[in-house]
Amino acid sequence: MSFSIERFVSLSKAVDTNDIDWDYVARVGITDDEARVLRYMADTESHTIIYLRDLLAGHTARDPEIAAFMSCWVYEEFNHGRAIDRFLSACGRPPANGQYTKVAESASWVEGLEAFFTLSLPHLTPHFAAVHMAWGAIDEMMAAMAYVQLSQYTRNRELSKLLLRMAKDERRHQSFYFHQAERRMQHPLGQRIARFGLEWLWSPVGIGVGGSEDDLAFIAWMLLDSPRGREELRHNDRIMGRLPGMSGCSLSFRRVGALMKSFHQRFPEEVERLRVQRRELGVDVVSSGSEMAGAEALSSAL
Ligand SMILES: [Fe+2]
Ligand SMILES: [Fe+2]
Repeated sequence: MSFSIERFVSLSKAVDTNDIDWDYVARVGITDDEARVLRYMADTESHTIIYLRDLLAGHTARDPEIAAFMSCWVYEEFNHGRAIDRFLSACGRPPANGQYTKVAESASWVEGLEAFFTLSLPHLTPHFAAVHMAWGAIDEMMAAMAYVQLSQYTRNRELSKLLLRMAKDERRHQSFYFHQAERRMQHPLGQRIARFGLEWLWSPVGIGVGGSEDDLAFIAWMLLDSPRGREELRHNDRIMGRLPGMSGCSLSFRRVGALMKSFHQRFPEEVERLRVQRRELGVDVVSSGSEMAGAEALSSAL
């Protein structure tokens, strides 16, 4: 499996929205639940530049491949946020005035703690970059999974089109992070730092920026409440488990499962409502692992 940064850079562009039928989008619209999910996603995407600060701490800033990737990555993610905001606006659900600043200011203390570690510790050893890369791989995987699942859930065909396009970008990003992590985790110290960092600090992407733990749990109940949904999480963990030192990884299954359990205990009626809705919609969510063809096939697209 190889990754070509030159090819990645040459393919990098803002997600295409030119062929979206905006009249159809306005006419068909989306549900309140879909709007809640998309708000979380747009805020997470729009604030990627905050993560860039952490990712370029220490030795990673001196790596030309990482610098080239990040230059394109932050632009692509920003445009994902912009595209979702445009979509929400077309449905009559624009972001609130000052949304960007409000979200940036309310980033949780966990984000602050992560920033402290990621800004200071990377100066101690170049092996710290392993945790950043493994972290990026699992985050991109989760983002791609959420987009594919929502594309199967929604009745708005233009939303499906946009989501699958963005999911493809997320898989390209995943491919970069995974290959970087694989390389950097050949070293035992890289392995230990990555596993320790993920086990102790990782939570699904967007918590503290796109929304709260409850927002994420709501999304999980809406999109992953099925054997197939659980298999999606296990699939992510199996891919992460291929990284050196990560065998038996069950991070995404455990963390998302714990959030879902806590949400269910406090909001059983809401979970029941989402279940009824899934049945009524006849949602048959496909496997993003098979549809998007997993990390291997994605890297061959590069
Ligand atoms: Fe994105
Ligand atoms: Fe991404």
